[in-house]
Amino acid sequence: MTDLLSKFDPLIAQREALLSTGMTDPFNLVMERVESPTVAICNGQRTILLGTYNYMGMTFDPDVIAAGKQALDDYGSGTTGSRVLNGTYAGHKACEEALKTFYAMDHAMVFATGYQANLGIISTLAGKDDYIILDIDSHASIYDGCALGNANIVPFRHNDVDALEKRLKRVPEGAGKLVVLEGVYSMLGDVAPLKEMVDVAKAAGAMVLVDEAHSMGFIGENGRGVAEAQGVIDDVDFIIGTFSKSVGTVGGFCVSNHPKFEILRLVCRPYVFTASLPPSVVATAATSITKLMHGADKRAHLWENSRKLHAGLKALGFQLGTETPQSAIIAVIMPNLEQGAAMWEALLHEGLYVNLARPPATPANMTLLRCSLCAEHSAEQVDQILGMFEAAGRATGCIG
Ligand SMILES: Cc1ncc(COP(=O)(O)O)c(C=O)c1O
Repeated sequence: MTDLLSKFDPLIAQREALLSTGMTDPFNLVMERVESPTVAICNGQRTILLGTYNYMGMTFDPDVIAAGKQALDDYGSGTTGSRVLNGTYAGHKACEEALKTFYAMDHAMVFATGYQANLGIISTLAGKDDYIILDIDSHASIYDGCALGNANIVPFRHNDVDALEKRLKRVPEGAGKLVVLEGVYSMLGDVAPLKEMVDVAKAAGAMVLVDEAHSMGFIGENGRGVAEAQGVIDDVDFIIGTFSKSVGTVGGFCVSNHPKFEILRLVCRPYVFTASLPPSVVATAATSITKLMHGADKRAHLWENSRKLHAGLKALGFQLGTETPQSAIIAVIMPNLEQGAAMWEALLHEGLYVNLARPPATPANMTLLRCSLCAEHSAEQVDQILGMFEAAGRATGCIG
């Protein structure tokens, strides 16, 4: 018998070597109790959360929680069915209505996760004779959507408008073209030059899909994302998003003004062949989305947090993923996995949780400590966070 798991031996060895030093497993941490969007108990210690995607802090919003409890009472714990069979409840329709209102768009389709939204929409739009031109640093769910549809993949250099234009010119005449972009790239927290990219894509006759997973709720005047902030939302054919970040629950979606959009409900396999979200989840999502429409103050405070943390970390001597704060994600670049893991653990001992990110999830083989801010982090918490980075950085030799 060939052991099909043998291909993972190098990874197993690397992981065992790291854990044999006695360090806490960075990929297996348990949140023993969660007190608020910004504080949890980990290893018995009160810990500030700086690695969640809870950008707008909606997970403990009283209205959101009440809506979930009510739906649980009224509709039960699950639908036990696909959206196209018995799994469409009033709550799923209400959630799609909330999305249509939030984005001011004609159509909205809710999926079980953002991963499935990308998988489903991309694979259904672009098939074997079509071309998907995508940023090389695209999220795994985008690549998996391309693979599921069996489309021809044409990657271009990260955030490089000229490279996108050149790749588009090489696509055979008359072929179907879908340009796939993200608003905010989650590893470095950098924003795409969507305005230029959408212009180039449209000039080449391509359709455009933008994944706004890390910008929804926060970026843009109404929190619709980078496409809104850069004034090109009307030229984007499909926006993908998730409920697992600013919305504060779980689920995914696609919104669009395309007149034929509704047919996707019958032909999109990751929508049809899976159970729909539980009523409590769509109720929390709909309530949260509606509240995010009025989240201007929270958005302003989150920007303050982002600017303060970015400036503070830079002043301490850390190397950051972006020159200026561009989103709620601030990535601290570590020299290697060993030092990154040591710094991650030192921060945890200080009482701070951040995300340790490593290849293949990261670009250019980087090891990153990814900090993601929340609108519920107070200015005092950001000061505390900077103090913790200073102490951990000096203890591990990451800063002088
Ligand atoms: C850019 C991007 N798209 C999609 C997803 C998937 O979202 P979900 O957690 O809802 O599956 C993520 C998740 O991290 C993401 O970063």
